[in-house]
Amino acid sequence: MVKEIRRVLSFIFSIEFLRMGIFWTLSLLISHLRLFNGRLCARYSFTYSRQLVASNSTAKRPICIITGATSGLGAATAHALAKEGFLVVLVGRSGHLLTKAMSEIKKLNEDAQLEAFEVDLSSFSSIMKFKGSFQQWLLDMNLHSSIQLLVNNAGILATSFRETAYGFDEMMMTNYMGAFCLTKALLPLLMESPLPSRIVNLSSFTHRNGR
Ligand SMILES: NC(=O)c1ccc[n+]([C@@H]2O[C@H](COP(=O)([O-])OP(=O)(O)OC[C@H]3O[C@@H](n4cnc5c(N)ncnc54)[C@H](OP(=O)(O)O)[C@@H]3O)[C@@H](O)[C@H]2O)c1
Repeated sequence: MVKEIRRVLSFIFSIEFLRMGIFWTLSLLISHLRLFNGRLCARYSFTYSRQLVASNSTAKRPICIITGATSGLGAATAHALAKEGFLVVLVGRSGHLLTKAMSEIKKLNEDAQLEAFEVDLSSFSSIMKFKGSFQQWLLDMNLHSSIQLLVNNAGILATSFRETAYGFDEMMMTNYMGAFCLTKALLPLLMESPLPSRIVNLSSFTHRNGR
């Protein structure tokens, strides 16, 4: 019994517990409070998104690219940004899942402007091929050669080492190198934006456990 109590106490006073249990909870609470006050939105929101939702013209809509848009947070983000008036470019590995994700968004919002590209972020050649086809698509659609938002959302949680064709670990390649390479490839388009552009990277607290 005494041993158990000692173990519990040493856990409670450990750095891990302080960091995850207290600081993390506090930072979550603070961000929720700031959101609630509307301060966060006022500081960071783009001024153009809501104004453009009324416009049906594809050419006038800000463009966002969302990786991993076929499920989870990516699909929810695609849905929310389409509602905000963005022209949403969904990126995923499976054509079938991309079509399904787009029709689900369309079902709830028929004004949504969507496009999809099959890209495997664990492959450098797939990323570079996407850059080319995306730029060609902008030209074909007579759209300004720029993007306003890139959401690096795609990610996997692998429990074992899986090697990609390039010899890298699949999780490192998808979650980190792929996102980096895509960002670097799209940076000129983000910088060409006549409106303020932004990159959003999704991450995880799990990285803190890395050794
Ligand atoms: N959900 C959580 O609790 C949580 C917690 C911490 C961090 N996160 C992070 O948040 C992000 C989204 O999480 P989620 O739970 O919404 O994920 P999810 O539902 O598993 O979706 C992952 C998405 O990534 C795509 N994807 C996976 N590998 C890819 C590749 N090689 N190339 C292109 N796309 C790829 C998948 O698309 P296809 O399979 O169709 O290709 C899918 O759309 C991830 O980065 C994750 O690490 C999530």
